[in-house]
Amino acid sequence: MLAGKRILLIVGGGIAAYKALELVRLLKKSGASVTPVLTKAGAEFVTPLSLSALAGERHYQDLFDLTDEAEMGHIQLSRAADLLVVVPATADLMAKMATGRADDLASTVLLATDKRVLIAPAMNVRMWHHPATQRNLATLQGDGVLVVGPDQGEMACGEFGAGRLAEPGVIFAAIEAALGGGPLAGKHVLVTSGPTHEPIDPVRYIANRSSGAQGAAIAAALRDLGARVTFVTGPATVPPPQGVDVVRVETAAQMALAVKAGLPADAAVMAAAVADWRVSNQGAQKIKKDTSGRLPALKFAENEDILAGVSRGSPRPRLVVGFAAETTNVVEHATAKRLRKGCDWIVANDVSPATGIMGGTENAVVLISDQGAETWPRMPKDQVARRLAERIAAALA
Ligand code: CTP
Repeated sequence: MLAGKRILLIVGGGIAAYKALELVRLLKKSGASVTPVLTKAGAEFVTPLSLSALAGERHYQDLFDLTDEAEMGHIQLSRAADLLVVVPATADLMAKMATGRADDLASTVLLATDKRVLIAPAMNVRMWHHPATQRNLATLQGDGVLVVGPDQGEMACGEFGAGRLAEPGVIFAAIEAALGGGPLAGKHVLVTSGPTHEPIDPVRYIANRSSGAQGAAIAAALRDLGARVTFVTGPATVPPPQGVDVVRVETAAQMALAVKAGLPADAAVMAAAVADWRVSNQGAQKIKKDTSGRLPALKFAENEDILAGVSRGSPRPRLVVGFAAETTNVVEHATAKRLRKGCDWIVANDVSPATGIMGGTENAVVLISDQGAETWPRMPKDQVARRLAERIAAALA
């Protein structure tokens, strides 16, 4: 609940602006007050009247409107709120924010505020991936701006990819979390992610194809629900999310130590693709090619099973979630794995190359618990993450 909280909602000019109306409805329902500010372009996509009517408050639009300044100056407007929320944050608004421009009311309040700012970007996929937008995003995140979305999917312009506005319910959850609420507020969740690298010698290693995308999305989703997240990650290709405590490791043995150091936790989600074996006859120096034609013979030792250790160890998190990457008989193997490893849930997926899941953007999972197997439809990894985070929140409630 957001009773008594004040949100300054800046509506940018994008086709997704209509979703801001649904967000206002959710915010009002939870007891927050909403003051709408529209950019000039924002007012082309959603009428100021509908925003004011839903918010039950007047809207603001013009920096030089003397009536506005007489009633409430832009400085006061920017500071009276508990949180500034930008929906949708267009490429142009993000660029203005990143460079500190203040040429209209929206950009001026964003520059003048002493409160936290949360943006929900939405734009064409090419605009989102453009190095300029990604640079601006990094700058804004470095400045402490909270970012929710964008989602993957089909866009109004007919293209497909990242750039869709996050759903209003997800933006609402991020607002709740930013204001110290959220169903996981006060909870600590440990997440492992990415592959591990097992050295052969100082320059070579054995790895796997995990990108760390699913683990990073889970950590972000848990954070968005208000959890404090410790994120233990192997050398992943996907960067860790903002706003979580990142612990970087390389080998399974290092991951095991980092996980132990990260406990106690209310829940643990072990999404890492941990190498089962390490090379026990590692070369202290680079192994040289033997000119007599003899090939090096690697010997292996089994790595500690981190998930089983957490499930059977102490202090045990109330909820321990493992992953199972299978290529055959997914449900059967994962069901056996849940019992063998002693965890509460297993998120199982088929990582056969034909599925395109490992290293891809989508996932099709089966959630296995003591209640049986629940098949989820194939969906983007960030949606799998959100659904899982919501289930975790419900289990810890
Ligand atoms: N896991 C772990 N420590 C290991 C190996 C795996 O914590 N040394 C965890 C993974 O993070 C994942 C789960 O165990 O949550 C399943 O990993 P997986 O590699 O699929 O299972 P295995 O135990 O390797 O079983 P198998 O090789 O028979 O598939």
